[in-house]
Amino acid sequence: MKVELHAAFQSRTARSERVIKVAEAFGLGLEDREFTVLDKVELEVKPGDVVYICGQSGAGKSVLLRALAEKLAEAGQSVANIDAVDLDLHKALIDQLGGEGLAEAIRLLSVAGLSDAYLYIRKPGELSDGQRYRFRLAKLVEGGADVWVADEFGAVLDRVTAKIVAWNLAKVARAHGKTLIVATTHTDLLEELAPSLMVTKRFHDRIKIETNDVD
Ligand SMILES: Nc1ncnc2c1ncn2[C@@H]1O[C@H](COP(=O)(O)OP(=O)(O)OP(=O)(O)O)[C@@H](O)[C@H]1O
Ligand SMILES: [Mg+2]
Repeated sequence: MKVELHAAFQSRTARSERVIKVAEAFGLGLEDREFTVLDKVELEVKPGDVVYICGQSGAGKSVLLRALAEKLAEAGQSVANIDAVDLDLHKALIDQLGGEGLAEAIRLLSVAGLSDAYLYIRKPGELSDGQRYRFRLAKLVEGGADVWVADEFGAVLDRVTAKIVAWNLAKVARAHGKTLIVATTHTDLLEELAPSLMVTKRFHDRIKIETNDVD
């Protein structure tokens, strides 16, 4: 489906004594202004697409990701965000996935890059941040929403693990016709994600959109 994204913010500065001093010293205006992050950006996203949003810190990746997720939700698709995944901190990982099936639980954990049996029997509260992140991904995949959204994708993972997880996740998303949308400042996951849509957000309203239709 085609979406058009727009995002602009008012920049209103509180005029404290220090703010006024800084403004005078550096010749900055303090008038209220609107700044645009997304200026009628047109994207086409289909089930099975992987959307890779890159760009420097502050360029507008999160704004773009949220705006896109919102449009897809408005269009009736179920959208699951990794930040909203619910974990039971006091229950072993293996007991929180796959319903009755142990094999399914193990499959979901390995998709998310958790393949060590000693971790299966740990609780989320006993994991490292990166391990917990991967467990969230396993839950996200299990949830079966139409759209999987992950901001700061793989940020807490070493780059080898990030690549493995990216490759697995993109493969599973494509196989099940899910839309995977990730945003990260890291540009090293191109090969693993093989995105259908590569969006490089630049400062202000600048943006570069590259499509790679495999079908
Ligand atoms: N609610 C808001 N009100 C005002 N400005 C905002 C708001 N949300 C974001 N911005 C501004 O929009 C710009 C883009 O923010 P965004 O969070 O999308 O950056 P980002 O690319 O995700 O950065 P990072 O990599 O640090 O997460 C920034 O200049 C930010 O200050
Ligand atoms: Mg961000």
